[in-house]
Amino acid sequence: MQVPDIIIAIDGYSSTGKSSFAKIIAKELSFLYLDSGALYRGVTLFAIENGYISDDCTIDVPGLEKAMEELDLHFGPCGTYIGDRCVEAEIRSLAVAGKVSPIATVPQVRAFVDRKLREFGKGKRVVMDGRDIGTTVFPNAELKIFMTADPMIRAERRAAEMRAKGDDVNIEDVLKNLQERDYIDSHRETSPLTQAEDAIVLDNSHMTMEDQMVWLRAVISERFGC
Ligand code: CDP
Repeated sequence: MQVPDIIIAIDGYSSTGKSSFAKIIAKELSFLYLDSGALYRGVTLFAIENGYISDDCTIDVPGLEKAMEELDLHFGPCGTYIGDRCVEAEIRSLAVAGKVSPIATVPQVRAFVDRKLREFGKGKRVVMDGRDIGTTVFPNAELKIFMTADPMIRAERRAAEMRAKGDDVNIEDVLKNLQERDYIDSHRETSPLTQAEDAIVLDNSHMTMEDQMVWLRAVISERFGC
């Protein structure tokens, strides 16, 4: 399929499979994939390890803001890096998941991540996933998808993913974390999770990845005539 040089923005609730979908789209269409959540998770790991967030999620905003000036957060062969250290496994832990949404409410953190995303995504042929890509980061994206799915199905998928990596998680903890993040993400002041007016909704509760690709090809062909 010949797709024009566009930006695809995928937003939606936690664990709706945005990143898996975005990765496959990137592979099939030869697009660059950018995982904005990984950057929020990277800042969160950095904040935990350096004492900028406490156990009860009190954040030292001035300290974190200053420290981010030196924070070399980027993508590389293993995924997400802080300097030359690959932090891909650590940022996916429940410890990080439990603190990422409070960290993502901090406007200075959002500005830091937005800057990185715009820098990494310069040019076109980019697929990006997150919470505010179609509304704030790339409001002019040519194709915006808003993903949703039944919460229990999302929790089961995320728990299976974590167990496959050897994490001994229980489904109630995972479900609770998803619901808490959805609440904080949708209610924060700066760039809350909302559906962009021109986004197309995809509820994938009962869809396979192949179903999603069939859906996507139909959307692209209708919208761009290819
Ligand atoms: O993959 P999952 O749905 O668990 O989340 P993620 O995409 O890795 O994002 C982790 C968290 O980062 C979200 O719960 C949000 O709090 C925050 N986030 C955000 O605020 N804005 C984005 N564009 C992406 C993530």
